[in-house]
Amino acid sequence: MQFGQSIQTKLSGLIAAIAVGSLALLPVAAHAKTNEKEPMEVHFSFEGPFGRFDQAELQRGYKVYAEVCSACHSMNLVSYRDLAAPGGPFYDPKHPVAPAQSPYAKAIAEQYKVPDIDPDTGDTIQRTATPADHFKAPFANDAAARAANGGALPPDLSVMARAREGGPAYIYSLLLGYEEPPKGLTVPAGKYYNPYMAGDMGSYWTGAKTQIPEGGFIAMGKQITASRVQFDDKTPSTVENEAHAVATFLAWTADEHQVERKQTGLAVMLYLFVFTLITYLSYRRIWRNVAH
Ligand code: HEC
Repeated sequence: MQFGQSIQTKLSGLIAAIAVGSLALLPVAAHAKTNEKEPMEVHFSFEGPFGRFDQAELQRGYKVYAEVCSACHSMNLVSYRDLAAPGGPFYDPKHPVAPAQSPYAKAIAEQYKVPDIDPDTGDTIQRTATPADHFKAPFANDAAARAANGGALPPDLSVMARAREGGPAYIYSLLLGYEEPPKGLTVPAGKYYNPYMAGDMGSYWTGAKTQIPEGGFIAMGKQITASRVQFDDKTPSTVENEAHAVATFLAWTADEHQVERKQTGLAVMLYLFVFTLITYLSYRRIWRNVAH
């Protein structure tokens, strides 16, 4: 009795110590002091356990990337044939072919020239892209990208939707969130004010210390404007539709298999449910005549 109790006290002491210890670690893991706005409330078709990507919207989103964002941002992890893989913007379920054979992937790739090495001479050449090539990067290297963007590096967008808290809703909010800087805020040259961007603007603010504006500065100007991209499916080119489509496209490139994964998850749940039911019914049957 005595022995059992002391073990119990020791154990609960240990558990309490672990709990307190991990609590103490928590604030360190949380991010540095920034006061950006929470992303806007915006709905995406792929959210939730039954969510799916809207293929037409993925096509519109690719168009926004290709016509606007690709001037500055690379997407080094995505190839043209990915666009025609099952679940992708240009997958054709009526004529399924290997993504690399897809006429859509070929037609898109052929619009680009990519750098390569001539196998005979070793010279650097530019050749027409094939579906196996990754998206053509706008700049030859990071130094060139910085030089063209006032010293700031436009980050690769392949997995951006997973790299930022809020994901697609953050991208949507950032693109639409540009507003006039509040009076009393000194915006550094080459930067723009955006309330959704992480930052700490205390040292640029001349107003009351308790009223430091939300958000931060970003070296990317406003990119999404009405009618910037004409959609082939006649969807109106409002800023909301453009930003929503490109955020959807970036959510897909960051996690191309999320819909398949959710569907597998549902099938597994269904299987487990049926299995539990059968086990329960056989339990009832086997013990039917036994008093217990
Ligand atoms: C004219 C060049 C240019 C274009 C066009 C452009 N961007 Fe940017 N973008 C930048 C630069 C430069 C940065 C880095 C900003 C910084 O570090 O302050 C950036 C940063 C970003 C970020 C990261 C913000 C963060 O949280 O750090 C996202 C997301 C982004 N851009 C999305 C887009 C999308 C989507 C498009 C197309 C609709 C686009 N950009 C078009 C130059 C551009």
